Amino acid sequence: MDYAPAPEDDKAARAWLATHDARFAHFIDGAWRPSADGRSFETHEPSTGRLLAQLAQGAAVDVDGAVQAARAALPGWQALGGHGRAKHVYALARMVQRHSRLFAVLEALDNGKPIRETRDIDVPLVARHLLYHAGWAQLQDTEFADWTPLGVIGQIVPWNFPLLMLAWKISPALALGNCVVLKPAEFTSLTALLFAELAHRAGLPAGVLNVVTGDGATGAALVEHPGVDKIAFTGSTEVGRQIRKTTAGTGKSLTLELGGKSPFIVFDDADLDSAVEGIVDAIWFNQGQVCCAGSRLLVQEGIETRLVDKLRQRMGTLRVGTSLDKGIDMGAIIDPTQLARIRSLVELGTEEGCQVWQPAGLSLPADGCFFPPTLITGVSPASTLAQEEIFGPVLVVMTFRTPDEAVVLANNTRYGLAASVWTETIGRALDIAPRLLAGVVWINATNLFDASVGFGGYRESGFGREGGREGIYEYLKPRAWTQLKPRVRLATPDRQAESADEHGFAPLTQVDRTAKLFIGGKQARPDGGGSRSVFSPDGRQIGEVAEGNRKDIREAVSAARSADKWSKATAYNRSQVLFYLAENLAARAEDFARQLVVRTGVSASAAANEVDLSVRRLFTYAAWADKFDGAVHQPPLRGVALAIHEPLGVIGIGCPDEQPLLSFISLLAPAIALGNRVVMVPGEACPLMATDFYQIVETSDLPAGVVNIVTGDTRALVAVLAAHDDVDAVWSFGDAEQAAEVERVSTGNLKRTFVDYGRQLDWHARESEGLPFLRQGVQVKNIWIPYGD
Ligand code: NAI
Repeated sequence: MDYAPAPEDDKAARAWLATHDARFAHFIDGAWRPSADGRSFETHEPSTGRLLAQLAQGAAVDVDGAVQAARAALPGWQALGGHGRAKHVYALARMVQRHSRLFAVLEALDNGKPIRETRDIDVPLVARHLLYHAGWAQLQDTEFADWTPLGVIGQIVPWNFPLLMLAWKISPALALGNCVVLKPAEFTSLTALLFAELAHRAGLPAGVLNVVTGDGATGAALVEHPGVDKIAFTGSTEVGRQIRKTTAGTGKSLTLELGGKSPFIVFDDADLDSAVEGIVDAIWFNQGQVCCAGSRLLVQEGIETRLVDKLRQRMGTLRVGTSLDKGIDMGAIIDPTQLARIRSLVELGTEEGCQVWQPAGLSLPADGCFFPPTLITGVSPASTLAQEEIFGPVLVVMTFRTPDEAVVLANNTRYGLAASVWTETIGRALDIAPRLLAGVVWINATNLFDASVGFGGYRESGFGREGGREGIYEYLKPRAWTQLKPRVRLATPDRQAESADEHGFAPLTQVDRTAKLFIGGKQARPDGGGSRSVFSPDGRQIGEVAEGNRKDIREAVSAARSADKWSKATAYNRSQVLFYLAENLAARAEDFARQLVVRTGVSASAAANEVDLSVRRLFTYAAWADKFDGAVHQPPLRGVALAIHEPLGVIGIGCPDEQPLLSFISLLAPAIALGNRVVMVPGEACPLMATDFYQIVETSDLPAGVVNIVTGDTRALVAVLAAHDDVDAVWSFGDAEQAAEVERVSTGNLKRTFVDYGRQLDWHARESEGLPFLRQGVQVKNIWIPYGD
């Protein structure tokens, strides 16, 4: 017996389109505003190909109008306070619930996804996000008293979850006192426009939320607009990279949620029937157009045949149809261009020798944009289909023998968004989860989302988190950092490197020492053999440091990479080592203070104070090492999500000139306390305090390679670190140009950057330690653990 179609009623959605004559302007400052140049474009129903509406094509001038409206609305919105905004965001959640059917139908029509998904997943989650963040607004004054909103936020969302991505983005932004200019994807703008219209009717003040429609050029205009304080982007890795380049050095904050090629790992003791249902949800939910889709099935060898047979049988029961049919499993692909992309990738797979299987006899609707559920075997880890994000209903299968092999295969990708682990052995699941390089891990589950559980990627899947407490900080900045003055560079009489003589030593004048580099736990001669002179503020030459180069940085990175045991060491262990570093520095306090007086010209009491604060700061991070824990979330399901703080890996750190001991320690200590390994580049004015510090490192049980120190031309060396693909993050505290360069050249592996844009912190102050630094030393991994049989 076959199913008859069970269409959802679309009258209300069509009526809404009709009230606008199916023509839409931008929604700016609480009103409809056409494009200044009158340009527009069409949007179609993917299920039928029929025209749905005409949308305004936003140009830079329209974006400018929206940004100005948002900026003008900021003071009023912020003056409402946490409770005032909580009431508004709560009202938005209720508005979505009241109009849930209209939103669900319009979304299904516009996107082509099954109404079952928009009705049961997208729209309820939209309300959930708004409500959750209404709660944070209420708590803002007490929980985030030291933090302040960023200002005007430009948000660019893709077409796969148009309304849900809007909610993920605007909820924290608005709740915390920012105003928004949102650019929906060109294929799917309608629910954003409906939302803006209804939000205004629900009392949201004009200008707080503005929607400008258009294509990539409109998005680019928003990214480039100088009045925007932050860009939050979800979409392709390629565009994400472009945005990182454009915003480099502008001071705009940035979060990127990009692509993925997420593994779905099935061990031989998994419940195979559940795993099959999991696979259906992993790769055929939303036609596989999901950034965290489980698109790589990794099966333990002994069960491959059984699992694949079961899967084929299940695939034969999947129904593909038009989006408003309540009885379908899969809807339409978003657009003919995307369909062509999926087809060409599958053809490429065939050319590379993979076997393509699709259920026989599966009927696809005659019109519209459809692609059948597809299973691909014979895939090698290096195949295009194993590496490229297909963003369609296409699953590739590979096998592994041991858990270790599963981990290696799972991590054999440049992405790191999500992973799913299927096994009945809880010990195995919890052993594997921390070893997967992914921001989200689902155990015996897949594609679970909740506002309380942060979502976001490792590696080229982007940076920043949406949801959870960690997502809140993406829309705030430390209050004390808003008034920072540009850094004043210390006058150094001569910054020229001097060439080495025939013995490999730089010419010495009154100098009694040449500090070497510190790499892999040993003092090392620089590759080039040269050194540079270091002068006191009154012009006396007081020492020589090695002139490190690109090769030295590579050596240091490689040493740091090899010291990965530190990242796996217990927090207790790391804490003890930091206490020990503090103790050893305290024992040499007088010596360090004396050197500070000679080298920086400060008074004896200021020098003693700097050393004392450095010891305290080491204590602070020794304390935090075993206290900066994650959290246990309780999303609405039987189970928990563990938010784990994991180290980033290798961090390159460019230190400033001022307070050369304290600033060096203030940057080094949080990074290593949290399990990172570092390559430190001291400021040029007084690198000798850093090179003295390696005597402390050598006597403090710190494993070789955890701290590496390379002296030389700070800016050039930091740029090498920023461009190095084996470095996971770069912190730059130097001048503004150095910060811009770091952000610009960090795009190769999309490393995380933490820069001060040349604005100088007071390293003595309380705001120069703690949470703002700790946050930058970890990435949050959420491990979902549902309970029950
Ligand atoms: P895209 O990254 O081009 O588009 C996403 C959003 O960015 C849209 O709103 C678009 O208008 C905007 N945009 C495009 N170029 C821009 C630019 N230069 N500056 C600012 N904004 C810009 O993604 P697209 O073309 O829709 O899909 C291409 C591929 O990207 C897909 O096949 C898929 O692999 C991947 N993708 C990943 C998504 C994810 O959630 N991770 C979502 C959408 C696409």
